[in-house]
Amino acid sequence: MAGDETPQAPVVAGVVGWPVGHSLSPLIHGEWARRAGIDGSYIRIPVEPGYEDFARAMDDLKSQGLKGVNVTIPHKEHALRYADAASEAAAKAGAANMLTFGTETRAENSDIAGFAAAVREQADAPGPYALVLGAGGAARGVILALQSLGVDGISIANRTKEKAEALAEAFGLAAIDWDRREDALATTDLLVNTTSLGMTGEPPLELSLESLRLGAIVADIVYSPLETKLLKWAKAKGHKTVDGLAMLMHQAVPGFKAWFGGDAVVDEALRAILVAELKKRGRL
Ligand code: ATR
Repeated sequence: MAGDETPQAPVVAGVVGWPVGHSLSPLIHGEWARRAGIDGSYIRIPVEPGYEDFARAMDDLKSQGLKGVNVTIPHKEHALRYADAASEAAAKAGAANMLTFGTETRAENSDIAGFAAAVREQADAPGPYALVLGAGGAARGVILALQSLGVDGISIANRTKEKAEALAEAFGLAAIDWDRREDALATTDLLVNTTSLGMTGEPPLELSLESLRLGAIVADIVYSPLETKLLKWAKAKGHKTVDGLAMLMHQAVPGFKAWFGGDAVVDEALRAILVAELKKRGRL
């Protein structure tokens, strides 16, 4: 008789990034697998920056029989490049957060639908005017999500003006000066921070919400800390808010369904598990 070690659940999928040690995704997929009674695990897979390392790691994972992976910083563009085929959303965003392995490797971008679903939890039909802060990869996804929700009056403010202008040109938006960002708030229905400002270890986001339109929704894609100063101020002023955990949970749904083949429901019980983990890490 062999030893009494508990057999490990077969690895079905994972999250690839650098660093990836703090990813909450294993907790999300683990909970859904438990609910569905599926014997499968979802692991963290650290892969150093650079396309060559990424491609080698994907070849290995594929040959080990993984069904797919989520991909996070700094590999989202590499994922799109590696794939044989891409969804329209991934192609438009120029980045993918999901790779599904099969006869061909398919890239998808569920960050976009994830953000849209998180906003929809607060308002079925948000108003037409949005202000997006930041012009990096995350901003591109947010802009595509907003457009999918019918928000067509999008302004973008970024410290480096040229990047805001390039995005404005590509997506048909208005670019505004970073120093004038507060001027747009009176006509904003949806304010979204996609910069790293407000994240643990980063400078705070300097923004007075004094003139923000009544009833506007405020979203922050940062989830560490979970309640950024921006969201705290917004709540104190009576605004509905969308935090980074809402987006994180919703973006995970398509991956779980594709790779584990079970149902994936975003609810308060799932959020409570993630909040408890963030609390343990002192990141509320
Ligand atoms: P991501 O892919 O997550 O969007 P990114 O491409 O590094 O990451 O983008 C980070 C965003 O935060 C950028 O819009 C960046 O502004 P710049 O384009 O001017 O660099 C913004 N950001 C980071 N630090 C900032 C700071 N101190 N003040 C203002 N904006 C900042």
